[in-house]
Amino acid sequence: TSESITELLDRLCAIVPDYPQPGISFKDLTPVFADPTGLRRLVDELLAPFAGQFDIVAGLEARGFVLAAAAAYASGTGMLTIRKAGKLPREVYRDEYTLEYGSGCLEIHRDEVAPGTRVLILDDVLATGGTVGSAVRLIEKTGAVVAGIGVVLELDGLDGRGRLGEHQVVSLQVVH
Ligand code: PRP
Repeated sequence: TSESITELLDRLCAIVPDYPQPGISFKDLTPVFADPTGLRRLVDELLAPFAGQFDIVAGLEARGFVLAAAAAYASGTGMLTIRKAGKLPREVYRDEYTLEYGSGCLEIHRDEVAPGTRVLILDDVLATGGTVGSAVRLIEKTGAVVAGIGVVLELDGLDGRGRLGEHQVVSLQVVH
């Protein structure tokens, strides 16, 4: 019998207590990425609800890059790299945001996406929604349109989804 996506995640996702700081229970998807079928399953499940609804996939540094690159390849589209501040070499838009533990700053190249392009955002985990919310603002600054948001894990109780307004959010599993 074939394993469901929930069973796959329960089997392979590593839960790391008190990382990166006390009180945080870190959900580590790298064993799923390393599994022979795990990455393909994640990408297929994340893309299915958005079929025909996007023109390009955006990945958020760093774990979102793994999913977005594979998703762009699988869907025959390109990939936008949304990076931590100071990494992109050309003219950028910049956006500061807050995280479950600390704060951050993301950037996108100004000229990589044409106005009106439909962008699917992918990341590994939705926690407070600070990171994805920042990516949404950056994409909208370019004049492109957010087609949807796909994450593997959605952390319960942090209202990440609530911070993303009307955008369609698909998560493969909700965890505590
Ligand atoms: C983690 C995770 C998400 C974000 C979720 O990334 O990969 O991008 O936090 O948290 P939020 O919903 O509260 O914003 P992190 O900033 O640790 O970056 P990394 O992938 O480069 O390690």
